[in-house]
Amino acid sequence: RTAAVVLAGGTGQRVGLAIPKQLLKIAGKTIIEHTLSAFEESPEIDEIIVLMAHGYVPEVEQIVAKAGLRKVTKVLEGGATRNDTTTIAITTLGEGLAEGEDMNVLFHDAVRPLLSERVISDCVAALEKYQAVDVAIPSADTIITTRTHGEDGEFITEIPDRSRLRRGQTPQAFKLSTIREAYAIAAGDPHFQATDDCSVVLKYLPDVPIYVVQGEEHNMKVTQPVDIFIADKLFQLASQTAPSQPDDAAYRELLTGKTMVVFGG
Ligand code: CTP
Repeated sequence: RTAAVVLAGGTGQRVGLAIPKQLLKIAGKTIIEHTLSAFEESPEIDEIIVLMAHGYVPEVEQIVAKAGLRKVTKVLEGGATRNDTTTIAITTLGEGLAEGEDMNVLFHDAVRPLLSERVISDCVAALEKYQAVDVAIPSADTIITTRTHGEDGEFITEIPDRSRLRRGQTPQAFKLSTIREAYAIAAGDPHFQATDDCSVVLKYLPDVPIYVVQGEEHNMKVTQPVDIFIADKLFQLASQTAPSQPDDAAYRELLTGKTMVVFGG
């Protein structure tokens, strides 16, 4: 059994609008609806759990009902941090399991609406062999590390070899037993801090190999205001060039390069 957990417990401070960014509409639908549809349409996914920002659970329930998303079994409130939100999901999924039973779980940022079926199925396939899976893409930019020296500003400390650097995306996929164990150990660490879930496995279960699935540039995270514009344009581009099938499946096919796009045609 494979469950998708859609992490939507954040409020989008960096986008800075009155509502959480996952409720913004792009290409006629809320960002979270696009994301949920990706999992709903995937034959690999049996169940979807949503963890939504405080005060907005009813909005998501309405979106789910209106769009007829039948795989969504629970819409719960998220936690104070992304890791708290993950913890709630792990507990909830664990309650549904019999003793000794295990399952696959894919954690995905609600604000990555352009997730493709290829990435989902590669993650699920990798879980047949590995207990932990990340999705990442090479970095086009040079990544530097810096240190801030008081009021003098920021200075370079290191420029790691770009060929080995990757930008981590989501989904991050796990055997539930593995991510559960990693979080159980983390719970005993007073200095625990992380912004994703693979780093929890890497730190607390260092012997578990974390396989990397190739991500996609389009699988962008709506983080800054400009990202709303970019995501909207990507959806629009797709709808203009595939007007006969203006649905999410068509968008995704186009954006993942399975359909030819003729610019200026
Ligand atoms: N997230 C979550 N629970 C939290 C914080 C974040 O489920 N307590 C989710 C967000 O809703 C988002 C994903 O984690 O889908 C990635 O986080 P990020 O882009 O940082 O979202 P926000 O926390 O909403 O943004 P910001 O940091 O700008 O406030």
